[in-house]
Amino acid sequence: MKNLLKLDDLSVGEIMAILKRAEYIQTVGWKNFKAANPYLSNYNLTTLFFEPSTRTQYSFLMAAQKLGVKIISFQAEGSSLAKKETISDTVKTFDAIGADLLVIRDTKENYWEDLTDINACVLNGGDGAGHHPTQSLLDLYTIYQEFKETKGLKVLIVGDIKHSRVAQSNFNLFERFGMEVKICAPAIFRTENERNISEYDSTISEYDVLLFLRYQYERHDQSHSIENKEFHKKWGLTTGRYEKLKPSAIVLHPAPVNWGSEISDQLQTAEKLRIFKQITNGVYIRAAIISLILEQL
Ligand code: CP
Repeated sequence: MKNLLKLDDLSVGEIMAILKRAEYIQTVGWKNFKAANPYLSNYNLTTLFFEPSTRTQYSFLMAAQKLGVKIISFQAEGSSLAKKETISDTVKTFDAIGADLLVIRDTKENYWEDLTDINACVLNGGDGAGHHPTQSLLDLYTIYQEFKETKGLKVLIVGDIKHSRVAQSNFNLFERFGMEVKICAPAIFRTENERNISEYDSTISEYDVLLFLRYQYERHDQSHSIENKEFHKKWGLTTGRYEKLKPSAIVLHPAPVNWGSEISDQLQTAEKLRIFKQITNGVYIRAAIISLILEQL
């Protein structure tokens, strides 16, 4: 693996190696892992984010810092983008000045198709509504940690499927690991998909994992808006629905969460929510990817 752009490019074995490496780093601890892998300090990582992010960008930076990989900081604001430099030329500039690892997020799906002759390794931090491979991997890792055996688990993905890169990345990944995936979305957010169900109240107690997606306000036009209360009542995790969940069920959300929309405000500290666990796991997953790529260079 030199680049991580989408999960279809990885075999189940390669994905399992990432989960196992994340688990190993978590088990031995950052200091021990860093001490045993001094080669990591020979490399640098830059995050080129052309779309806002808190979790993905800063957990990559945190992972790099904990591994001893050098961080070269970039802020789109204050860069030559203000002088109309293109994103492609910005990426090429970092490649030309000696970047080893570039984590990129852009609004354009498959943005990497515009990047040619790049020597640096490229890790996709999200491309429009296309893919978000590290989010999917940290979701899978969270499920794996919880249940150990993923085969046969029933997963429900709820919400704004149409605009979600997390949903796109997750369907196939979860099924490749033997899970049965269903999707429930308002008609305007549905995509052609054989996994669709029209409502989930009658089956909610059957699911092991419920993944609520963020209501993607910034990607909606007028025809896509649903009043917040209506969205919550019909598709959100209400306190009533929460009470019907299987005792062993867990609730995931990629975050940021619109509390009161996708998940009730009253459930912010509910026991089945794994939202901050997912964020912590994201640091281990990103560290695993960084170390696996760098050890092959
Ligand atoms: N889940 C996620 O991608 O969050 P950020 O947009 O904050 O990176």
